[in-house]
Amino acid sequence: MGFLDDIEPLKQTARAELTAAPDLAALEQTKGTWIGPNGKFTALMKQLGTLSKEEKPAAGKLINAAKVELEAALASRREELELKAALPKEPTDFTLPGRRRALGKLHPLTQVTDDIVRAFRKIGFAVADGPEIEDEYHCFDALNTPADHPARDSQDTFYLATKNGADTAPLQTPAVAAVCDRRLLRTHTSSVQIRVMKSQPPPVRIIVPGRVYRRDNADATHNPTFHQIEGLYVDKNVTVGDLKGTVEFVFRELMGDDVKIRFRPHYFSYTEPSYEIDFTNALVKKMGKDWLEIAGCGMVHPQVFETVGYDPEVWTGWAFGFGIERIAMLRYGINDIRLFYENDVRFLKQF
Ligand code: DAH
Repeated sequence: MGFLDDIEPLKQTARAELTAAPDLAALEQTKGTWIGPNGKFTALMKQLGTLSKEEKPAAGKLINAAKVELEAALASRREELELKAALPKEPTDFTLPGRRRALGKLHPLTQVTDDIVRAFRKIGFAVADGPEIEDEYHCFDALNTPADHPARDSQDTFYLATKNGADTAPLQTPAVAAVCDRRLLRTHTSSVQIRVMKSQPPPVRIIVPGRVYRRDNADATHNPTFHQIEGLYVDKNVTVGDLKGTVEFVFRELMGDDVKIRFRPHYFSYTEPSYEIDFTNALVKKMGKDWLEIAGCGMVHPQVFETVGYDPEVWTGWAFGFGIERIAMLRYGINDIRLFYENDVRFLKQF
């Protein structure tokens, strides 16, 4: 048999061996035997020199073609084996139950806030926002609560240090206020009423959900930070009847149809007349109470309109502020406000 006749069977054998290599190590070894630097095909190349001028080109061509074919067989077997090596050794048992990923959910306070916002949106209220770090002007003075007003005591909060040290002044006098704009953590969302009215002409129909701060010690019903929703409605000929109807509508949406609302006279410096809103339903009765106080409200004080540049002879309005925790506690029958902030998943995942 001549040299040329040897090539085809050798190639067949080589290809069969490459294709049958059981793993990557065996494949590398087979590669060495056939097409590596010391492999049989390399040796054949070297033997070309012994051939006659006539035989040489055809033989060279055949060997090269065989090498190309074997390289391809090598590459495809390598790919197969690499894939096999990457698979798990044990076959997968598709009948095993899947591993569930724990799904997060919204905090109960967020859920209640979203529901309140949804109820107000249905009747045309827009959501407004304001800073948690406020100044005394927006938090108190513009709401008709000057520095020496006793209402400030019940709304004591956290003050931020100022450069000139005026934050340590025992009582804010108008003179001190003029030179230093003391920063504080807002005690209520009512400050946003001022910001909104100063930024747009009437009419206004907004709600403001947000976090507020008080210098209170935490107990079952108090926490130094909590959440409120403020509402403000300014237009011509607005009445207490509108206020009551609106509050009733929203509470029915939130808590069901057996809800009853009661307005009790109260005092707030930025409304006149002012009321506290009491709430009752089956749950309140079950708690052994007749009514629970849930909000403050009233008709916007003419002085507040003067301050923001609205004409109190033309415009009327009402405002209210609810505590969101209060509503959430009523809705879910929770008896300790601190549970909302502990972030214990066992508590949170119930809602
Ligand atoms: N800002 C009051 C508070 O934090 C709640 C409140 C009362 C808001 C009367 C109002 C209002 O807008 O008119 O206790």
